[in-house]
Amino acid sequence: MEIVFNQVKDSRRSATDMTNIPFGRVFTDHMFEMDFRDGQWLQPRICPVDAIPIHPANLTLHYGQSIFEGMKASKNSEGIPLLFRPEAHAHRLNASASRMCMPNIEVEDFVEACRQMVIIEKDWIPEQEGSALYLRPFMFATDEFLGVAPSETYKFIILTLPVAPYYSKPVKLYASTKYIRAAQGGVGEAKTAGNYAASLFASKQARAKGFDQVLWLDGKEFKYAQEVGTMNIFFVIGDVVITPPTDGAILKGITRDCFLHILNQKGYKVEERPISMEEVVTANDEGRLQEVFGSGTAAVAVDVCQIGYRDTLIELQPAADSLAQQLKTEINGMRTGQIPDTFGWVEPAFAVENA
Ligand SMILES: Cc1ncc(COP(=O)(O)O)c(C=O)c1O
Repeated sequence: MEIVFNQVKDSRRSATDMTNIPFGRVFTDHMFEMDFRDGQWLQPRICPVDAIPIHPANLTLHYGQSIFEGMKASKNSEGIPLLFRPEAHAHRLNASASRMCMPNIEVEDFVEACRQMVIIEKDWIPEQEGSALYLRPFMFATDEFLGVAPSETYKFIILTLPVAPYYSKPVKLYASTKYIRAAQGGVGEAKTAGNYAASLFASKQARAKGFDQVLWLDGKEFKYAQEVGTMNIFFVIGDVVITPPTDGAILKGITRDCFLHILNQKGYKVEERPISMEEVVTANDEGRLQEVFGSGTAAVAVDVCQIGYRDTLIELQPAADSLAQQLKTEINGMRTGQIPDTFGWVEPAFAVENA
C-alpha cells in the first residue's frame, strides 16, 4: 500500500504539555485516512487532523454502521516505537466489520497504516510510566441515503493520541439487574459504536449510586457476569482465576487474551467459564474471593474494590501487589522492552539502524 503523506506546516507538539494529558482530548498532528468505493479501499493518506464534511443523510448518523479499535504504542529505551499486537487488532476490526456488513481491510495494510502513523508521530509518544500513544482506528458508513441497508461507501481513519494512565485507583462496580449490554445473537462481540451508546444510561445511573462503572450481567437471567464498560472481568476465587467465556455477547479483549496466556505460562489455574453473581457473593461470604479485576487496553488492569449486586455490597481491599498489578507491570514492561516478550506481541515500528 502506497501512503501519500501531507505534512502539517506547524506541529502542535512543542506547545503540548505532555505531563498533563486529559484522556481522549489531545490529538497528534496527523491522521491516516482512506475511502472505500466501488468495492475497494482507495487513496491511503496521512494528512493533518481536520474536520470531515458530513452530509446530513450520512448513513452512520441514522443507522449506526460504525466500528472501532483501541490499541497502544510505546517506546523502548532506545527510542524505537513499539506496536502491541497490531495483527490481533486488525483481525478484531475485520470481525466487527463482517458482523456489521462493512468491508474488511487487509491485515498487512492495517498494520502498515498503524506503523506509519507511529513513525510519523514518534515524538508524541509519552515516556512517563504507564503512558502511551493510543491509536484509534475506526470505520464508518459514508453513503448519503435514508434507508436501512448496508452502505456502499466507507471511510477508515486512524487517530493517535498521547494518553496518561487511565485509572489511578481501584474501581467500584454496579451489577445492573435492570439493563443489559448485549444478549446472545446480538452485536456484543463487535466493537461497534451502538454498544457504547446503549451503555450510557445504565452507567449514568450507576454513577448516581456512587459506583464508577456497570458490571454487565447476561441478558437472559441477569445471573452471570459478562464484562465492564471497556474492560473484561476476572475473579480470583481461592487459587483459581476465572473469567467469563467469550460466547458472542462479550468483546474478545486482547488484554484478556494476553492475561490468559501469561497466567497459563506462569502455571496459574485458569478457567474460562460462566460465573454467576451467586457464586461470587458466596465466595466473598466464605472469605475465598481474593481479587476481582478488569482488563483492557486503556487501563491494562484495574483492581475492583466494590461490587454492588441486588442487596449485597461486596467490599475488597486490593493489595499493592495484587495479581492485577503484577499483570499490569508485566504488560507495561513488555510494551517498553523492559520485560522480554516471549509471545511475539511487541513489534518495532522500524529497524534499529533507522532509529
Ligand atoms: C466492551 C469492552 N470490553 C472489553 C474491552 C477490553 O478489550 P481490549 O483488551 O482489547 O482493550 C474493551 C476495550 O476495548 C471494551 O470496549
